[in-house]
Amino acid sequence: MFFADFQSFVYRHIFKPIAFRFDPETVHDSITIAGNWIGKRKWARKIARLLWCYENPSLRQTVCGTDFPNPVGLTAGFDKDGLLVDILPDVGFGFAEIGSVTGEPCEGNSKPRLWRLPKSEALIVYFGLKNDGCEVIRERLFTKKFRIPIGVSVAKTNCQKTCDVQVGIADYVKAMEAFLDIADYITLNISCPNAFGGEPFTKPELLEQLLCATDLLHARQPIFLKMPVDLSFEEIDKLVDVALMHQVQGLILSNLTKRRDSQKINSADVVPSEKGGISGRPVFDKSNDLIEYLYKRVGDRLILIGTGGIFSAEDAYEKILRGASLVQLATGMIFQGPQLIGQINRGLVELLRRDGFNSIKEAVGKRI
Ligand SMILES: Cc1cc2nc3c(=O)[nH]c(=O)nc-3n(C[C@H](O)[C@H](O)[C@H](O)COP(=O)(O)O)c2cc1C
Repeated sequence: MFFADFQSFVYRHIFKPIAFRFDPETVHDSITIAGNWIGKRKWARKIARLLWCYENPSLRQTVCGTDFPNPVGLTAGFDKDGLLVDILPDVGFGFAEIGSVTGEPCEGNSKPRLWRLPKSEALIVYFGLKNDGCEVIRERLFTKKFRIPIGVSVAKTNCQKTCDVQVGIADYVKAMEAFLDIADYITLNISCPNAFGGEPFTKPELLEQLLCATDLLHARQPIFLKMPVDLSFEEIDKLVDVALMHQVQGLILSNLTKRRDSQKINSADVVPSEKGGISGRPVFDKSNDLIEYLYKRVGDRLILIGTGGIFSAEDAYEKILRGASLVQLATGMIFQGPQLIGQINRGLVELLRRDGFNSIKEAVGKRI
Protein backbone atom coordinates (compact mmCIF):
# COMPACT_ATOMS: atom_id res chain seq x y z
CA MET A 1 0.00 0.00 0.00
CA PHE A 2 2.77 2.36 1.01
CA PHE A 3 4.58 1.55 -2.25
CA ALA A 4 1.51 2.38 -4.35
CA ASP A 5 1.09 5.67 -2.46
CA PHE A 6 4.74 6.45 -3.14
CA GLN A 7 4.28 5.73 -6.86
CA SER A 8 1.17 7.89 -6.87
CA PHE A 9 3.17 10.75 -5.28
CA VAL A 10 5.95 10.42 -7.87
CA TYR A 11 3.43 10.31 -10.73
CA ARG A 12 1.47 13.35 -9.56
CA HIS A 13 4.40 15.50 -8.49
CA ILE A 14 7.09 14.58 -11.02
CA PHE A 15 5.84 12.69 -14.09
CA LYS A 16 2.53 14.49 -14.58
CA PRO A 17 3.79 18.09 -14.29
CA ILE A 18 6.37 17.29 -16.97
CA ALA A 19 4.05 15.29 -19.24
CA PHE A 20 1.29 17.91 -18.97
CA ARG A 21 3.64 20.50 -20.51
CA PHE A 22 3.47 18.64 -23.81
CA ASP A 23 0.69 18.17 -26.34
CA PRO A 24 -1.73 15.52 -24.95
CA GLU A 25 -1.88 13.44 -28.13
CA THR A 26 1.93 13.35 -28.42
CA VAL A 27 2.17 12.17 -24.80
CA HIS A 28 -0.51 9.56 -25.41
CA ASP A 29 1.29 8.27 -28.52
CA SER A 30 4.60 8.07 -26.61
CA ILE A 31 2.99 6.14 -23.75
CA THR A 32 1.49 3.73 -26.30
CA ILE A 33 4.92 3.14 -27.89
CA ALA A 34 6.46 2.56 -24.43
CA GLY A 35 3.61 0.25 -23.35
CA ASN A 36 3.89 -1.75 -26.57
CA TRP A 37 7.67 -2.09 -26.05
CA ILE A 38 7.29 -3.23 -22.43
CA GLY A 39 4.53 -5.67 -23.39
CA LYS A 40 6.84 -7.45 -25.83
CA ARG A 41 9.47 -8.22 -23.14
CA LYS A 42 8.84 -10.83 -20.46
CA TRP A 43 11.24 -9.28 -17.92
CA ALA A 44 9.69 -5.84 -18.37
CA ARG A 45 6.19 -7.26 -17.97
CA LYS A 46 7.29 -8.94 -14.74
CA ILE A 47 8.54 -5.64 -13.33
CA ALA A 48 5.31 -3.93 -14.34
CA ARG A 49 3.33 -6.68 -12.61
CA LEU A 50 5.35 -6.33 -9.43
CA LEU A 51 4.84 -2.57 -9.46
CA TRP A 52 1.16 -2.38 -10.31
CA CYS A 53 -0.90 -5.56 -10.27
CA TYR A 54 -3.12 -6.55 -7.32
CA GLU A 55 -5.05 -9.84 -7.20
CA ASN A 56 -7.68 -11.09 -4.79
CA PRO A 57 -10.21 -13.93 -5.14
CA SER A 58 -13.12 -11.75 -4.00
CA LEU A 59 -12.64 -9.60 -7.13
CA ARG A 60 -13.16 -12.52 -9.51
CA GLN A 61 -16.48 -13.04 -11.23
CA THR A 62 -18.06 -14.65 -14.27
CA VAL A 63 -20.08 -12.23 -16.38
CA CYS A 64 -21.96 -13.44 -19.47
CA GLY A 65 -19.98 -16.68 -19.32
CA THR A 66 -16.56 -14.99 -19.28
CA ASP A 67 -14.22 -15.03 -16.27
CA PHE A 68 -12.95 -11.62 -15.16
CA PRO A 69 -10.03 -11.59 -12.65
CA ASN A 70 -11.21 -8.20 -11.37
CA PRO A 71 -13.94 -5.73 -12.35
CA VAL A 72 -11.69 -2.84 -13.45
CA GLY A 73 -11.22 -2.54 -17.22
CA LEU A 74 -9.60 -0.13 -19.65
CA THR A 75 -12.30 1.88 -21.41
CA ALA A 76 -12.44 2.26 -25.21
CA GLY A 77 -10.32 4.98 -26.78
CA PHE A 78 -7.07 4.55 -24.84
CA ASP A 79 -5.82 1.58 -26.88
CA LYS A 80 -7.48 2.37 -30.20
CA ASP A 81 -5.30 0.04 -32.27
CA GLY A 82 -4.82 -2.94 -29.98
CA LEU A 83 -1.15 -2.15 -29.30
CA LEU A 84 -1.28 -2.58 -25.52
CA VAL A 85 -2.97 -5.95 -25.00
CA ASP A 86 0.29 -7.60 -23.85
CA ILE A 87 0.95 -5.14 -21.03
CA LEU A 88 -2.57 -4.34 -19.76
CA PRO A 89 -2.92 -7.48 -17.55
CA ASP A 90 0.34 -6.54 -15.81
CA VAL A 91 -0.90 -3.01 -15.18
CA GLY A 92 -3.62 -4.82 -13.22
CA PHE A 93 -6.63 -4.47 -15.49
CA GLY A 94 -9.26 -7.22 -15.24
CA PHE A 95 -10.26 -6.67 -18.88
CA ALA A 96 -9.77 -4.16 -21.67
CA GLU A 97 -11.75 -2.77 -24.56
CA ILE A 98 -9.79 -1.83 -27.65
CA GLY A 99 -10.94 0.57 -30.38
CA SER A 100 -13.26 1.92 -31.39
CA VAL A 101 -12.34 0.06 -34.56
CA THR A 102 -14.05 0.90 -37.85
CA GLY A 103 -14.59 -0.97 -41.11
CA GLU A 104 -11.97 1.13 -42.92
CA PRO A 105 -8.78 2.75 -41.60
CA CYS A 106 -9.58 6.23 -40.37
CA GLU A 107 -7.32 9.27 -39.92
CA GLY A 108 -9.82 10.86 -37.55
CA ASN A 109 -10.48 14.58 -37.28
CA SER A 110 -7.76 17.17 -37.88
CA LYS A 111 -5.44 18.10 -35.01
CA PRO A 112 -5.56 19.39 -32.34
CA ARG A 113 -8.18 16.91 -31.14
CA LEU A 114 -7.36 16.23 -27.50
CA TRP A 115 -7.25 18.82 -24.72
CA ARG A 116 -6.78 18.64 -20.95
CA LEU A 117 -8.96 20.40 -18.40
CA PRO A 118 -6.46 20.04 -15.52
CA LYS A 119 -8.52 21.67 -12.77
CA SER A 120 -11.63 19.71 -13.70
CA GLU A 121 -9.69 16.45 -14.10
CA ALA A 122 -11.22 15.92 -17.52
CA LEU A 123 -10.28 15.69 -21.18
CA ILE A 124 -11.93 17.06 -24.27
CA VAL A 125 -11.82 14.41 -26.96
CA TYR A 126 -12.30 15.12 -30.66
CA PHE A 127 -10.40 12.21 -32.21
CA GLY A 128 -13.23 11.25 -34.54
CA LEU A 129 -12.58 7.51 -34.40
CA LYS A 130 -8.94 7.54 -35.52
CA ASN A 131 -7.81 3.91 -35.89
CA ASP A 132 -5.93 1.53 -38.20
CA GLY A 133 -9.12 -0.18 -39.41
CA CYS A 134 -10.50 -3.63 -38.69
CA GLU A 135 -8.28 -5.57 -41.10
CA VAL A 136 -4.95 -4.32 -39.76
CA ILE A 137 -6.07 -4.60 -36.12
CA ARG A 138 -7.40 -8.10 -36.70
CA GLU A 139 -3.99 -9.13 -38.10
CA ARG A 140 -2.32 -7.60 -35.05
CA LEU A 141 -4.48 -9.51 -32.57
CA PHE A 142 -5.18 -12.74 -34.39
CA THR A 143 -2.23 -14.76 -33.07
CA LYS A 144 -2.22 -13.37 -29.55
CA LYS A 145 -3.16 -15.33 -26.45
CA PHE A 146 -5.04 -12.93 -24.22
CA ARG A 147 -4.46 -13.16 -20.46
CA ILE A 148 -7.56 -11.10 -19.61
CA PRO A 149 -10.85 -10.75 -21.48
CA ILE A 150 -10.42 -8.43 -24.46
CA GLY A 151 -13.45 -6.65 -25.86
CA VAL A 152 -13.47 -4.84 -29.19
CA SER A 153 -15.50 -1.69 -29.61
CA VAL A 154 -16.72 -1.25 -33.18
CA ALA A 155 -18.09 1.87 -34.85
CA LYS A 156 -18.72 3.06 -38.39
CA THR A 157 -15.92 4.73 -40.33
CA ASN A 158 -15.94 8.49 -39.85
CA CYS A 159 -16.58 9.71 -43.40
CA GLN A 160 -19.37 11.09 -45.55
CA LYS A 161 -20.01 7.74 -47.28
CA THR A 162 -21.14 5.99 -44.09
CA CYS A 163 -23.79 8.67 -43.47
CA ASP A 164 -25.96 6.55 -45.74
CA VAL A 165 -27.70 4.26 -43.26
CA GLN A 166 -27.13 1.02 -45.18
CA VAL A 167 -23.48 1.85 -45.87
CA GLY A 168 -23.04 2.72 -42.18
CA ILE A 169 -24.59 -0.59 -41.10
CA ALA A 170 -22.39 -2.52 -43.57
CA ASP A 171 -19.36 -0.78 -42.06
CA TYR A 172 -20.33 -1.85 -38.51
CA VAL A 173 -20.94 -5.40 -39.74
CA LYS A 174 -17.55 -5.53 -41.50
CA ALA A 175 -15.74 -4.33 -38.36
CA MET A 176 -17.67 -6.74 -36.14
CA GLU A 177 -17.10 -9.73 -38.44
CA ALA A 178 -13.35 -9.18 -38.27
CA PHE A 179 -13.35 -9.94 -34.52
CA LEU A 180 -15.93 -12.70 -34.20
CA ASP A 181 -13.23 -15.33 -33.65
CA ILE A 182 -10.98 -13.09 -31.52
CA ALA A 183 -12.88 -10.88 -29.08
CA ASP A 184 -14.27 -11.96 -25.70
CA TYR A 185 -17.04 -9.43 -26.21
CA ILE A 186 -17.98 -6.89 -28.85
CA THR A 187 -19.32 -3.41 -28.14
CA LEU A 188 -21.35 -1.51 -30.68
CA ASN A 189 -20.38 2.11 -30.16
CA ILE A 190 -23.49 4.03 -31.23
CA SER A 191 -22.60 7.16 -29.29
CA CYS A 192 -19.34 8.65 -30.62
CA PRO A 193 -19.97 12.39 -30.30
CA ASN A 194 -17.26 13.34 -32.81
CA ALA A 195 -18.03 11.68 -36.12
CA PHE A 196 -19.40 12.84 -39.47
CA GLY A 197 -23.20 12.72 -39.53
CA GLY A 198 -23.62 12.65 -35.72
CA GLU A 199 -25.00 9.62 -33.88
CA PRO A 200 -27.70 8.22 -36.20
CA PHE A 201 -27.97 4.89 -34.38
CA THR A 202 -29.17 6.58 -31.22
CA LYS A 203 -32.49 6.88 -33.06
CA PRO A 204 -34.57 3.82 -32.09
CA GLU A 205 -35.70 3.03 -35.65
CA LEU A 206 -32.11 3.08 -36.97
CA LEU A 207 -30.79 1.12 -33.98
CA GLU A 208 -33.42 -1.48 -34.83
CA GLN A 209 -31.99 -1.77 -38.37
CA LEU A 210 -28.41 -1.99 -37.08
CA LEU A 211 -29.24 -4.71 -34.56
CA CYS A 212 -31.22 -6.72 -37.15
CA ALA A 213 -28.03 -6.77 -39.24
CA THR A 214 -25.68 -7.65 -36.36
CA ASP A 215 -28.05 -10.41 -35.13
CA LEU A 216 -27.48 -12.16 -38.46
CA LEU A 217 -23.81 -12.65 -37.53
CA HIS A 218 -24.84 -15.00 -34.67
CA ALA A 219 -21.89 -13.86 -32.57
CA ARG A 220 -20.73 -16.46 -30.03
CA GLN A 221 -19.60 -13.72 -27.63
CA PRO A 222 -21.74 -11.18 -25.74
CA ILE A 223 -22.67 -7.96 -27.52
CA PHE A 224 -22.76 -4.72 -25.54
CA LEU A 225 -24.08 -1.29 -26.55
CA LYS A 226 -22.10 1.84 -25.67
CA MET A 227 -24.76 4.33 -24.67
CA PRO A 228 -24.83 8.13 -24.93
CA VAL A 229 -24.98 10.09 -21.70
CA ASP A 230 -26.75 13.26 -22.81
CA LEU A 231 -30.17 11.78 -23.65
CA SER A 232 -33.18 11.91 -21.33
CA PHE A 233 -34.25 8.72 -19.51
CA GLU A 234 -37.26 8.63 -21.83
CA GLU A 235 -35.03 8.59 -24.92
CA ILE A 236 -32.73 6.01 -23.31
CA ASP A 237 -35.76 3.82 -22.52
CA LYS A 238 -36.67 3.68 -26.21
CA LEU A 239 -33.15 2.55 -27.14
CA VAL A 240 -33.12 -0.05 -24.38
CA ASP A 241 -36.51 -1.38 -25.54
CA VAL A 242 -34.97 -1.95 -28.98
CA ALA A 243 -31.86 -3.57 -27.48
CA LEU A 244 -34.01 -6.01 -25.49
CA MET A 245 -35.53 -7.35 -28.71
CA HIS A 246 -32.11 -8.30 -30.07
CA GLN A 247 -28.90 -10.11 -29.28
CA VAL A 248 -27.59 -7.53 -26.80
CA GLN A 249 -26.40 -8.72 -23.39
CA GLY A 250 -25.21 -5.51 -21.83
CA LEU A 251 -24.97 -1.72 -21.80
CA ILE A 252 -21.87 0.40 -21.28
CA LEU A 253 -22.80 3.56 -19.40
CA SER A 254 -21.59 5.79 -20.76
CA ASN A 255 -19.79 7.69 -23.52
CA LEU A 256 -18.44 11.26 -23.38
CA THR A 257 -20.70 14.21 -22.58
CA LYS A 258 -21.07 17.07 -25.03
CA ARG A 259 -22.60 19.36 -22.43
CA ARG A 260 -20.48 22.27 -21.21
CA ASP A 261 -22.72 23.21 -18.26
CA SER A 262 -21.54 20.61 -15.72
CA GLN A 263 -20.92 21.94 -12.20
CA LYS A 264 -17.81 19.79 -12.27
CA ILE A 265 -16.13 21.90 -14.97
CA ASN A 266 -13.87 24.27 -13.08
CA SER A 267 -14.20 27.82 -14.41
CA ALA A 268 -10.38 28.18 -14.25
CA ASP A 269 -10.14 25.69 -17.13
CA VAL A 270 -10.32 27.12 -20.61
CA VAL A 271 -12.67 24.92 -22.62
CA PRO A 272 -10.94 25.36 -25.99
CA SER A 273 -13.70 24.54 -28.39
CA GLU A 274 -17.35 23.70 -28.74
CA LYS A 275 -16.16 20.57 -30.53
CA GLY A 276 -15.58 17.30 -28.75
CA GLY A 277 -16.89 15.26 -25.86
CA ILE A 278 -15.78 15.56 -22.24
CA SER A 279 -14.45 12.64 -20.19
CA GLY A 280 -13.48 12.33 -16.53
CA ARG A 281 -15.14 13.92 -13.49
CA PRO A 282 -17.91 15.78 -15.40
CA VAL A 283 -19.29 12.40 -16.58
CA PHE A 284 -19.25 10.72 -13.16
CA ASP A 285 -22.68 11.69 -11.78
CA LYS A 286 -24.42 11.49 -15.15
CA SER A 287 -23.21 7.95 -15.78
CA ASN A 288 -24.04 6.93 -12.19
CA ASP A 289 -27.61 8.22 -12.55
CA LEU A 290 -28.00 6.21 -15.76
CA ILE A 291 -26.61 3.07 -14.10
CA GLU A 292 -29.00 3.37 -11.16
CA TYR A 293 -31.98 4.08 -13.40
CA LEU A 294 -31.27 1.21 -15.80
CA TYR A 295 -30.38 -1.26 -13.06
CA LYS A 296 -33.85 -0.78 -11.59
CA ARG A 297 -35.42 -1.08 -15.03
CA VAL A 298 -33.48 -3.84 -16.76
CA GLY A 299 -30.88 -5.06 -14.27
CA ASP A 300 -32.42 -8.54 -14.36
CA ARG A 301 -32.04 -8.75 -18.15
CA LEU A 302 -28.94 -6.77 -19.09
CA ILE A 303 -25.45 -6.55 -17.63
CA LEU A 304 -24.38 -2.96 -16.90
CA ILE A 305 -20.80 -1.74 -17.25
CA GLY A 306 -20.07 1.62 -15.64
CA THR A 307 -17.60 4.10 -17.08
CA GLY A 308 -17.00 7.80 -16.55
CA GLY A 309 -14.96 9.69 -13.99
CA ILE A 310 -13.51 6.86 -11.89
CA PHE A 311 -10.54 8.20 -9.91
CA SER A 312 -10.63 5.97 -6.80
CA ALA A 313 -11.92 2.72 -5.32
CA GLU A 314 -14.84 4.66 -3.83
CA ASP A 315 -15.80 5.92 -7.32
CA ALA A 316 -15.71 2.39 -8.75
CA TYR A 317 -17.64 1.02 -5.77
CA GLU A 318 -20.33 3.68 -6.21
CA LYS A 319 -20.96 2.44 -9.76
CA ILE A 320 -21.05 -1.18 -8.55
CA LEU A 321 -23.50 -0.41 -5.72
CA ARG A 322 -25.73 1.37 -8.22
CA GLY A 323 -25.79 -1.68 -10.51
CA ALA A 324 -22.60 -2.01 -12.57
CA SER A 325 -21.09 -5.52 -12.68
CA LEU A 326 -17.91 -4.19 -14.28
CA VAL A 327 -16.33 -0.74 -14.52
CA GLN A 328 -13.97 0.90 -16.99
CA LEU A 329 -11.72 3.94 -16.90
CA ALA A 330 -9.09 5.92 -18.80
CA THR A 331 -9.05 9.55 -17.64
CA GLY A 332 -8.43 8.65 -13.98
CA MET A 333 -5.31 6.74 -14.98
CA ILE A 334 -4.06 9.66 -17.09
CA PHE A 335 -4.44 12.04 -14.13
CA GLN A 336 -3.30 9.71 -11.35
CA GLY A 337 -0.93 7.16 -12.88
CA PRO A 338 -0.88 3.46 -13.75
CA GLN A 339 -0.72 2.33 -10.11
CA LEU A 340 -4.34 3.53 -9.81
CA ILE A 341 -5.73 0.22 -11.12
CA GLY A 342 -4.10 -1.80 -8.31
CA GLN A 343 -5.11 0.86 -5.78
CA ILE A 344 -8.73 0.64 -6.91
CA ASN A 345 -8.75 -3.16 -6.74
CA ARG A 346 -7.15 -3.19 -3.29
CA GLY A 347 -9.60 -0.52 -2.11
CA LEU A 348 -12.55 -2.49 -3.51
CA VAL A 349 -11.56 -5.51 -1.44
CA GLU A 350 -11.53 -3.31 1.69
CA LEU A 351 -14.89 -1.76 0.83
CA LEU A 352 -16.46 -5.18 0.20
CA ARG A 353 -15.14 -6.39 3.56
CA ARG A 354 -16.39 -3.24 5.35
CA ASP A 355 -19.91 -3.81 4.02
CA GLY A 356 -19.96 -7.55 4.64
CA PHE A 357 -19.85 -8.70 1.01
CA ASN A 358 -17.80 -11.72 -0.06
CA SER A 359 -17.63 -10.81 -3.74
CA ILE A 360 -18.29 -8.08 -6.28
CA LYS A 361 -21.37 -9.95 -7.45
CA GLU A 362 -22.93 -9.66 -3.97
CA ALA A 363 -22.42 -5.87 -4.01
CA VAL A 364 -23.88 -5.16 -7.45
CA GLY A 365 -26.96 -2.95 -7.14
CA LYS A 366 -26.91 -2.89 -3.31
CA ARG A 367 -26.77 0.85 -2.83
CA ILE A 368 -26.38 1.30 0.90
C1 LIG B 1 -8.88 9.94 -25.43
C2 LIG B 1 -10.21 9.27 -25.42
C3 LIG B 1 -10.66 8.62 -26.56
C4 LIG B 1 -11.89 7.96 -26.54
N1 LIG B 1 -12.30 7.26 -27.65
C5 LIG B 1 -13.40 6.47 -27.56
C6 LIG B 1 -13.73 5.58 -28.62
O1 LIG B 1 -13.03 5.49 -29.63
N2 LIG B 1 -14.84 4.80 -28.46
C7 LIG B 1 -15.63 4.85 -27.35
O2 LIG B 1 -16.61 4.11 -27.25
N3 LIG B 1 -15.33 5.70 -26.33
C8 LIG B 1 -14.24 6.49 -26.42
N4 LIG B 1 -13.93 7.32 -25.38
C9 LIG B 1 -14.84 7.41 -24.22
C10 LIG B 1 -14.40 6.48 -23.10
O3 LIG B 1 -14.46 5.14 -23.51
C11 LIG B 1 -15.26 6.65 -21.83
O4 LIG B 1 -16.59 6.37 -22.15
C12 LIG B 1 -15.18 8.06 -21.25
O5 LIG B 1 -13.90 8.62 -21.43
C13 LIG B 1 -15.49 8.07 -19.77
O6 LIG B 1 -14.52 7.34 -19.04
P1 LIG B 1 -13.29 8.07 -18.26
O7 LIG B 1 -13.87 9.24 -17.57
O8 LIG B 1 -12.74 7.03 -17.32
O9 LIG B 1 -12.29 8.43 -19.32
C14 LIG B 1 -12.70 8.01 -25.38
C15 LIG B 1 -12.24 8.67 -24.24
C16 LIG B 1 -11.02 9.29 -24.24
C17 LIG B 1 -10.56 10.00 -22.99
